[in-house]
Amino acid sequence: MAQSFDVVVIGAGPGGYVAAIRCAQLGMKTAIIEREFLGGVCLNVGCIPSKAMISACHFLHRMQNDAAEMGLRVSGKINVDMNQMVKWKRSVSEKMAGGVSQLLNGNGVTVIRGEAKFKTAQELLVQTKEGTESVSAKNYIVATGSRPIEIPGFSIDETTVLSSTGALDLSEPPKNLVVIGGGYIGLEISSYLAKLGTHVVVLEAQARLLAGVADPDCVQIVERKLKKSGVEIQFGARAKSWKKSGSTLEVSADVNGKTQTFKADKILLTVGRKPNSDQCNLSNIGIAMDDKGFVKVNAQRRTSIAHIWAIGDVSGQPMLAHKASHEGVMVAEILAGQNRVYDAKTVPAVIFVDPEIASAGWTEEECKAHGHGDLKIGKFPFAANGKAVSLMETDGFVKVIADSKTNIVLGVHIVGPEASNLISEAALAIEMGARLEDLALTIHPHPTLGETMMEAAEAALGHAIHVIQRPLSGKKGPPGPRPHA
Ligand code: FAD
Ligand code: NAI
Repeated sequence: MAQSFDVVVIGAGPGGYVAAIRCAQLGMKTAIIEREFLGGVCLNVGCIPSKAMISACHFLHRMQNDAAEMGLRVSGKINVDMNQMVKWKRSVSEKMAGGVSQLLNGNGVTVIRGEAKFKTAQELLVQTKEGTESVSAKNYIVATGSRPIEIPGFSIDETTVLSSTGALDLSEPPKNLVVIGGGYIGLEISSYLAKLGTHVVVLEAQARLLAGVADPDCVQIVERKLKKSGVEIQFGARAKSWKKSGSTLEVSADVNGKTQTFKADKILLTVGRKPNSDQCNLSNIGIAMDDKGFVKVNAQRRTSIAHIWAIGDVSGQPMLAHKASHEGVMVAEILAGQNRVYDAKTVPAVIFVDPEIASAGWTEEECKAHGHGDLKIGKFPFAANGKAVSLMETDGFVKVIADSKTNIVLGVHIVGPEASNLISEAALAIEMGARLEDLALTIHPHPTLGETMMEAAEAALGHAIHVIQRPLSGKKGPPGPRPHA
C-alpha cells in the first residue's frame, strides 16, 4: 500500500528540511525522504564542518601570532592534534544534524530513510534498507542538492584526489597540496590548511581569484594575505593530469600555454558543483532542465510539471544554504495558499577566508551594468575602528556603493573581521531600499565592528569622522535631509 501525503520533500538539506518543517507548521501532512544524512551537505560535509575547521585554525593562528603581543605567553610549541580536531568537527555536525531530526519529529514530519526516484509524476519509489516503498503526494518538493564537478584526468577517490568532503576529514595536514580551482571551497580550505603548515599551490583557470563572485578590491586583500602565509597562486592554470612519482604526486598543468608540474601529497579538486538532477528520474517524467542540468523553475520555484517544485542547489545559482532555506519556506507558504514569489533583492554571500569577504547587492561593475553610471562610494578601513584594533584584526574595509542621485544603497562589500556577521545589516538596508543617510544616521553602538558600516555610509556622503576625507566633488556641508523625515 502506498503511503500518501499532502507534500513529500526529497532531500533533507537546508532547502528540504526547512521546507518540510514549514509545510508541517502550516498543517500539511508532510514526509521527507533522505538517502544519506539529515541536514544534507550543509550540516554534514559543507558549511558547518568547514566553518568548524576554519574556526579551530583561526584560533591556532591567533595563539601563534597575536597572543604574545597581548601579553599571553604560551610556553612551548602548540601541538595540533588533528584527529581530535576532526573528531570535534564531527561532533559539531552531529549536534546540528541531531537538532534537525528533533525539529522534524517535533513538527510531525514523517522521515523516510532511502533513495527516492519518480516512477511516474504522481508516484515515488523509495529504496530503503528494508526494500522498495511506494510514496505519493499532492505536491513534491525536489531538494536534492549538488555534488562536485570532476574534470578529465581527475576522478575523486577521497584518498589522492579529494573533494571538500575528503579534505575536511584528513587525519593529518598534507605537506604539499595542489588545489584545482580558486573559488569558494578551494580558498576556504587552502586558508585553514596553510595555517596548519601545508604548502598550498592553487591552480586557477581565470586571471583572478573568486572571479565574478566577489568585489575585486576585497579579493586583493585576501590574495595578499594568502601569499603572505605561503600559498602559491597560479593564474591561467588548468590542471591536465597527475601521476605518482616515488612517494609523491606530480600534477601537470597548462599555465598560460606552458606545461608546468607541481609536487603534491594530495590534490583537492574544487572547480564547482553540479546539480543532483540526474538521479531521481526527473528527465524520465519530463521535467525541463537547462543545459547545465539545473531544474528549470519559475519565480515560485514551480517546475514544468505543476505539482512538482524544486529548491536549493538543484534549481540554480547561487548555490548557498540560506538561498535554499528561503526558497523552502516560500514554497511551503505557496502550497498553503499564500501569495508569494521569489523577489529577494539580494542573496548575501560570504567567503570564509582570512579575512572574511561578505557582500550584498551589486559590485561597482554590476551597478554600471544596471544603468547606475554615477555612484557614491564610501570606504572605511577596519584599521580606524576601535573594536578591530582591540581585536588585532585590522586588515580590510567596508565599502558602501549608492546611486549618486537618490543615495539608495546598491551594494555593500566587506573584507575584514566578522564580515559574515556584519553583512546582514547591509542585506536589510538593500531589501528596504535604504539610503546612505539611513545607515549614517542610525546610532551604532560603540565600540563595535558595526560602526564601520555607519562610517562607510558617512564616507560616501563625504563626512566620515574617523578618516580624513577630501570633500566630494568640491562640495562641503551636511548630508541632505533624511529621506522620510
Ligand atoms: P543539499 O544540502 O545538497 O542536500 C540535498 C540532500 O538531498 C542530501 O542530503 C542528499 O543526500 C539528498 N538526496 C539527493 N538525492 C536524493 C534522492 N534521490 N533521494 C533521497 N535523498 C536524496 N553554503 C553557504 O551558504 N554557506 C557556507 O558557508 C557554505 N559552505 C560550504 C562548504 C562546502 C565544503 C560545501 C561543499 C558547500 C558549502 N555551501 C555553503 C553550500 C551549501 O552546502 C549548499 O548550498 C546547500 O547545502 C544546498 O542545500 P540543498 O538543500 O539544496 O541541498
Ligand atoms: P566555485 O565556482 O566557487 O569555484 C570554482 C573555481 O574553479 C573558479 O574560480 C573557476 O574559475 C575555477 N576552475 C574551473 N575549472 C577549472 C580548471 N579546469 N582548472 C582550474 N580552475 C578551474 O566552486 P567551488 O569552490 O567548488 O564551490 C562550489 C559552490 O559551493 C560555490 O559556488 C558556492 O555556491 C558553494 N560554497 C559556498 C560557500 C560559502 O558560502 N562560504 C563555501 C563553499 C562552497
